[in-house]
Amino acid sequence: MNAGRIVVTRPIPRAGLALLEEAGVTVEVLQPDEERPVDRAALLGLGRDDVLLCLLTDPIDREVLQASNLRGVTNYAVGYNNIDVGAATECGVPVSNTPGVLTEASADCTWAMLLAVARRIPQAHRYTAEGRFKLWGANLFLGSDVGLGPDGRRKVLGVVGFGRIGQAVARRASGFDMEVIACDPAPAPADPVEFVDLPELLARSDFVCLHPPLTDATRHLIGEEELRSMKRGAFLINAARGPVVDEAALVRALREGWIAGAALDVYENEPQLSPGLADLDNVVLLPHILSASHDTRGRMAEIAARNALCHLRGERAPEVVNPEVYESEAWLLRWR
Ligand code: GLV
Ligand code: GLV
Repeated sequence: MNAGRIVVTRPIPRAGLALLEEAGVTVEVLQPDEERPVDRAALLGLGRDDVLLCLLTDPIDREVLQASNLRGVTNYAVGYNNIDVGAATECGVPVSNTPGVLTEASADCTWAMLLAVARRIPQAHRYTAEGRFKLWGANLFLGSDVGLGPDGRRKVLGVVGFGRIGQAVARRASGFDMEVIACDPAPAPADPVEFVDLPELLARSDFVCLHPPLTDATRHLIGEEELRSMKRGAFLINAARGPVVDEAALVRALREGWIAGAALDVYENEPQLSPGLADLDNVVLLPHILSASHDTRGRMAEIAARNALCHLRGERAPEVVNPEVYESEAWLLRWR
């Protein structure tokens, strides 16, 4: 069989590329310019001896999968909604991702967003850096308490999607003396939180953190009705995928004061922002950097490289998301 090659859509950290070099395999980077997306034509031009190492910005849909019949696809991300996994399985193509290593960095950044929006940190930074801080004032940049308020009331953190990242976000809340509630379609009874349904979570939470994967069931999970059911003093933090929130409804909610504020790392039509979003004073907007620490992104690159090498050699990838593919006729015909 042809030795094949690993095609990387856009550059990933050195640690991953170094592993591929050490393995002596052929590697091609389709788009060396990190600021530009990959051409669709390049994705459609891949072949059956290629393994694709792609980013979450690359749509790997049925057409791409059927055109190329790849040996495997590994996504440099934990979320893989950019890949049509059902179509991949039908084509006998294993798909893998990079879970686990990014859990703590992602939970840290979720908390950074929560604290930033509650205490208006970006707005205060801008004010200070622009030289507008002339005199201390008792009413300067008042925000909201995060943990225990001076009245002794514990704030409620509502975690939507209690997977690895949601759980790590919840763990951090104990240091803030918060009450934690969660909702998840598959609650684990052993978890030390109270599981409630989404309407109850929205009605009770002071901070709502979103961590579900993007699926048909979670698209627009938070729309007008849900936003209107939140407390007026509550904050929404989207650390999942943009389409989980109806962004136009969110802009109205923030403008009209249905909720106090929002912190977003992801957008419905990323990287575009809904009209009006950037003009609001009660938002914190990040460019999809939840897992972006040096060490975490390096480890993700190593995991993606190891997945890719397994796909190239017809071995079971450590982080395969469609393991049933290894029983499929298409996969067995190719490798057995
Ligand atoms: C980032 O959004 C990821 O899914 O890893
Ligand atoms: C604020 O700086 C205070 O001392 O209360």
